[in-house]
Amino acid sequence: MNDKLVISGNKKLNGTLNVQGAKNSALPLIAAAIMAEDEVELIDVPKLKDVTTMLEILKRLGCKVVERGNVLLIDNRTLTSVTVPEDLMKEMRSSIVLLGALLAKKNKAMVSYPGGCAIGERPIELHLMNFQRLGCEVEEKENKIIAKAPLGLKGTDIELDYPSVGATENLMMSSVFAQGITNIINPAKEPEIVDLQNFLNAMGAKIEGAGTNNIKIIGVNRLKGTKHRINPDRIVAGTYMIAGAITGGNVTLKNVIPEHVSSLTDKLREAGVNIIEGDRSLTIIAPEKFNKIELIKTSPYPGFPTDLQPQILALCTVLNGSSLIVENIFESRFRHVEELKKMGADIMLGDGIALVRGPTKLTGTKIKASDLRAGASLVIAALGAEGVSVVEGLEHIDRGYEQIENQLRRLGAKVERVKWFEDKYENA
Ligand code: EPZ
Repeated sequence: MNDKLVISGNKKLNGTLNVQGAKNSALPLIAAAIMAEDEVELIDVPKLKDVTTMLEILKRLGCKVVERGNVLLIDNRTLTSVTVPEDLMKEMRSSIVLLGALLAKKNKAMVSYPGGCAIGERPIELHLMNFQRLGCEVEEKENKIIAKAPLGLKGTDIELDYPSVGATENLMMSSVFAQGITNIINPAKEPEIVDLQNFLNAMGAKIEGAGTNNIKIIGVNRLKGTKHRINPDRIVAGTYMIAGAITGGNVTLKNVIPEHVSSLTDKLREAGVNIIEGDRSLTIIAPEKFNKIELIKTSPYPGFPTDLQPQILALCTVLNGSSLIVENIFESRFRHVEELKKMGADIMLGDGIALVRGPTKLTGTKIKASDLRAGASLVIAALGAEGVSVVEGLEHIDRGYEQIENQLRRLGAKVERVKWFEDKYENA
C-alpha cells in the first residue's frame, strides 16, 4: 500500500461539503448489532478501512453482512463463533468493543490483546476489571483474553477510574442482558456514547444517562432489530473546518451537529475565524489576518478532543503568536511535529506539551503520516503551505477519512492520489 497524496498548497478552500457518518460511532454500533435477534440496518456508515475490518470480523464470526453504499444490513442469526480472529484484531485495536457485545449475546468471548499503537500504550485494564465486577471470569494467557459468564452477568455499580470511551461502550453493551441494574459512574460522555445508548434503546434496551456522569442500564432479555442513522463524524467535521481556516477559505459543512464541535469552534473564534452555526450545518469564514490561540488542553468530552489536537496544532503554526498545546489523553501523540518542522514550523516539544511559535510560512515538501490524525494534520499543513507537498502513509488517513482527496477537490483544493512517485513531483 503506497498511496500518496500530492497537494499544491496556498489555494483557498471554498464551497460546501457533506460530512460522513462517524467512524467512532459506526464501530461500536456494528459490534452492538450482534446483540439483536434479527436484522439491523445502519444508515450513513462511512466507507473506511476500519469499518471494512470490523465487517470482516463479523463475517468471520458467521454474521451475514450486506453493504449498499453507506447502508449496512447485519444479520447475526448465523453467528457461530465467539472468537475474534487475531489477524484482524491486530489490524484494528478498537475491535475490543466486540468483547462486550459477544459476552452479552453468548456469555463468552475470546479476543487477542489489542496492543498499543502509534499514539500510545492504550491498556484495557478498565474494561477487564469491570467485566469481573459484573460477574465475568477473565482469563489472560498467551496474549489471549478469554471472558466467560456461564451464569450470565449480574448488574452492579461500576465506577470508572478514568472516563474511557471504549470501556464505557463495552460495559454498556455487556450490561444490557445482565440481571438487575448496572450503574456506570464517571463514564465517557462523548456523543458516540449517546449514539450507542439511542441505538441499543431502539432495539429494546433500557438505558438512560448517556452524556452525563451516570449511565443506568436495566437488564432486559432480548433485543430486536432496528434501523438507525449514525451520528455525523465530529472529528472529520473539525478537520475540514481547520483546513478551511488555514487556507483563508469559506467552507460550509452539512450534516454536522455544531454542539459536538463547540470546543473547536471556541478556539477557532479565538483565532479570529468567523463561524456561523445552523441546525445541522456550519460555515467557517477565515479572517484576512489571524489572531493567536493561547492555550489548547485536550480532555475528555466536552473538552477539546485529542483527535483534533494534531490538526489544530498545524493551524497554530501560521497564527500570529505562540500557542501552548497540552496533550492529556495519549502519551505519544506528537508524532506529526517532526514532519511539520520539515515544512518550516517552529515547534518546541516538552513532556506532553508543544510550544508552537507563529506565524511561519510553511513550505511544501515530502512528509509522512505515522497515524490517522497525524496524517490529517499533515494534509492541513500541506493545504496551507507554499508549493507542492507529497504526503505518504495514506493508509493511515484512509482509516478515518472517506475519499479525502475527492472531498478536498470538492472545495477547490489541488490534490491527487498517486500510486507511485512520478518524476514531475520528485523535485517538488
Ligand atoms: C476512543 O479510543 C477513540 N477510538 C479514539 O479515537 C479517541 O482518541 C479516544 O476514544 C479518546 O477520545 C474509537 O472510538 C474507536 P479511551 P479508546 O479508552 O476507547 C487510557 C481516532 O483517531 N486507558 O478513552 O481507546 C488510554 O490509554 C481514535 O479516531 C487506560 O489507561 O480511548 C488513553 O490514554 C484514536 N486504561 C485514555 O485512557 C483503559 O482500560 C483514553 O482512552 C482504557 C483506556
